[in-house]
Amino acid sequence: MNILEKLKQKAKNLKKRIVLPEGDDERVIKAAHDAANEGLATVTLLGEEENIRNKAKSMGLDLGKVEILNIQDDEKKELYAQKLHELRKQKGLTLDQAREWLKNPMYYACMMLYEGRVDGVVAGAVLSSPDVIRPALQIIKTAPGIKLASSCFLMVVPDCPYGANGTFLYADAGFHPNPSAEELAYIAITTARTAQLLLGVTPCVAMLSFSTKGSAKHELVDKVIEATRIARSLNPELLLDGELQADAALVPEVGQRKAPDSPVAGKANVLIFPDLNAGNIAYKLTERLAKATAIGPILQGLAKPVNDLSRGCKAEDIVLQIAVTVLQTQF
Ligand SMILES: CC(C)(COP(=O)(O)OP(=O)(O)OC[C@H]1O[C@@H](n2cnc3c(N)ncnc32)[C@H](O)[C@@H]1OP(=O)(O)O)[C@@H](O)C(=O)NCCC(=O)NCCS
Repeated sequence: MNILEKLKQKAKNLKKRIVLPEGDDERVIKAAHDAANEGLATVTLLGEEENIRNKAKSMGLDLGKVEILNIQDDEKKELYAQKLHELRKQKGLTLDQAREWLKNPMYYACMMLYEGRVDGVVAGAVLSSPDVIRPALQIIKTAPGIKLASSCFLMVVPDCPYGANGTFLYADAGFHPNPSAEELAYIAITTARTAQLLLGVTPCVAMLSFSTKGSAKHELVDKVIEATRIARSLNPELLLDGELQADAALVPEVGQRKAPDSPVAGKANVLIFPDLNAGNIAYKLTERLAKATAIGPILQGLAKPVNDLSRGCKAEDIVLQIAVTVLQTQF
């Protein structure tokens, strides 16, 4: 069984409920159908029932296992408006404004999650990333002990002897353009937790740089050294080391030569990049040149899982994000 099948199998066992707010989109309808029929989760689509059923019919899909909720007719609508107002009144949100926000299905989905009616939200096939992430941060907020939400990609590299049998987590490749040392430390700790959840392996975290253990001196390197120190002080149990170059982090012989005393060098399965330039470029190069499968961006560090999609996604990408979101309910 490959890692993607294993992820799906684990998701099936958890029996969670996922809401997809972009119910009018054909890829989302297909993903809802496939995820529900595969038993990955109980799936709710938000949208106008007749419209969604007609679209599904024209696609040859039977949505018998999918719940469809028209938020205009939902009996919880007013209750959610009151709860949202309560949640954000200190930020100046009036009850009328809360009602207005809830006309947006993404906000509605986040309130369903907040209230425990579903266990996760997946969106972004139509909405932009900020329009998915903002409601999640405003309503769901970060998990206890985590100051910062961030994002990572699950990279599955074929015929690769490194990492966890060719599987890695890359962070942050989609959220924080230029994290401070402290933010980088939080990204590392959160990604380690995501690795444990998704891969079921002991995370081995490399704080990447263009320097290995003092081989180069620069303020950019200093940031990674400081982030390593902070991450260690926050979580001394974690197998984490830096600063390391990518080859020293991944390849046992190079790790042995460049950082012989490092517990991580040559064994890393979680790669933490110093900024979004490095992380985003690395994940796209790995995807294109090594023919890797990239799953994400996976939002991490939230109190309950909300995941974003690329607007260029296919139905199968949405199905995988549903499986990932189900596993993140264990964060
Ligand atoms: C995070 C993001 C939604 C912020 O949007 P914004 O309109 O500037 O909103 P704000 O700065 O007012 O933040 C909204 C809320 O999120 C919180 N927030 C922002 N970033 C956060 C983070 N990393 N972790 C936790 N909370 C965060 C803010 O504290 C605020 O909460 P509050 O309203 O309860 O006080 C937006 O910048 C974004 O989507 N960034 C990442 C996506 C992206 O562009 N990636 C690069 C492409 S590869």
